Amino acid sequence: MGKEQRGFSSSLGAIMAAAGGAIGLGNIWRYPYMLGENGGGAFLLANMFFVLAFGIPLIMSEFVIGRRSQSNVVGAYRKLGKKKGWTIIGYFSLISALLIYAFYSVVSGWTLNYIVLACTNKLSGLSPEQVTETFTTFTTGTFWPVFYQLLFLIMTALVITFGVQKGIEKVSKVLMPMLFLLLLFMCIRSLTLPAAKQGLHFIFHPDFSKLKMSGVLDALGQSFFSLSIGVGAMVTYGSYTSKEDSIFKTSTWIAVCDLLVAVAAGVVIFPAVFSFGMDPASGPELVYVVLPNVFNSMPAGTLFAVIFFVLLSIAALTSTISLQEILVAYTVEERQWNRRKSSIISMLVIFAVGIFCTLSFGPLSNFKIFGFTIFDLFDHVTASYLLPIGTLAMTIFLGWFYPKAEVKDEITNGGALKGNLFELYYFILRYAAPIALVIIIVSGIVE
Ligand code: TRP
Repeated sequence: MGKEQRGFSSSLGAIMAAAGGAIGLGNIWRYPYMLGENGGGAFLLANMFFVLAFGIPLIMSEFVIGRRSQSNVVGAYRKLGKKKGWTIIGYFSLISALLIYAFYSVVSGWTLNYIVLACTNKLSGLSPEQVTETFTTFTTGTFWPVFYQLLFLIMTALVITFGVQKGIEKVSKVLMPMLFLLLLFMCIRSLTLPAAKQGLHFIFHPDFSKLKMSGVLDALGQSFFSLSIGVGAMVTYGSYTSKEDSIFKTSTWIAVCDLLVAVAAGVVIFPAVFSFGMDPASGPELVYVVLPNVFNSMPAGTLFAVIFFVLLSIAALTSTISLQEILVAYTVEERQWNRRKSSIISMLVIFAVGIFCTLSFGPLSNFKIFGFTIFDLFDHVTASYLLPIGTLAMTIFLGWFYPKAEVKDEITNGGALKGNLFELYYFILRYAAPIALVIIIVSGIVE
């Protein structure tokens, strides 16, 4: 690296970058369809509970590991763990990050295609069947989905090449406020639609009879995925935050912003879905298939379609940056590669794996492993196993093997901050979170 000091240059930059890593397709694409499939309000409450009770303490824990060690995810466990074996958690994180990025980049690439479709007016005036056909033709194709995936990978790698401050931090500081503004604008539009009330009722009125056990687990899994917990993203970004920042405050900001954006995405989507008679439970295709119909049937729909898909791609980009930075920080610090070489090589590796995820919608759609297409397999294996296992390993390391006094020292900035809630935090780290994680992992296996 150049002469740039290690880490972000400001607290705000750190929050924007980390919130950008957390806020992503998980909030705007995945959260609404999960909400739709699990009956709305009750799912929202369950998810909110998990974000506040487990999400904040777990982000804090990753921050402690990163900031204490001032290292990438492998270096962090090497430095903090007395025995060399702990680095296995770091390597495990690298693999999880790679697999997540491989399938995440597919859906990220779709956002670019949809920006182009919206800008060239190719989504307007279509019948619902034609909208679905547009989606299917595109995603099952060979050239274009791969092309857009690669384009997205290149954009991400480019930002990373510029470095932590001049690339990641700078881009996040521009894109995140833009995302908030666009989202606010879309919320206002949606709230002035005829069925706004019905949409809001669906999101905010908890009907617990609609929330099954699997829905509760989905809410827990969703909170981890959405907050980017369990693959070292927050370890890496935590290592870039200032020793003067409050880990508790930064983590709370990240979690609250993430939650607000997810709820806001729901506020954008459901009033529109109800106003135009669509099905709220239509699954992963919700934003790509249902929304274009909605845009079609409202005045100035093309404009809103463009805004929406730009919003989606911004959210995706700041997240793919955080995913790739996990890998790049590792190769830069542990393998002494320079940033440019790291960005390019890790990008190519991700592309080599990710291309199979893209093609699993089309040419490889009949190739199934355990009944899953490659894309679904990656999504399922990471969300149901790798993230919870990685998080469990992290809590066991920090809660049971790393000295409590050192954890407290890092969280209170050497005693400078009050640590009133420390015992509560430590209880969650040591007992509550690991138990919840074991439940998710076991129930995933049983299912
Ligand atoms: N949290 C992001 C989202 O909601 C996705 C993501 C980025 C992620 N980095 C991650 C998920 C690390 C898990 C781990 O879209």
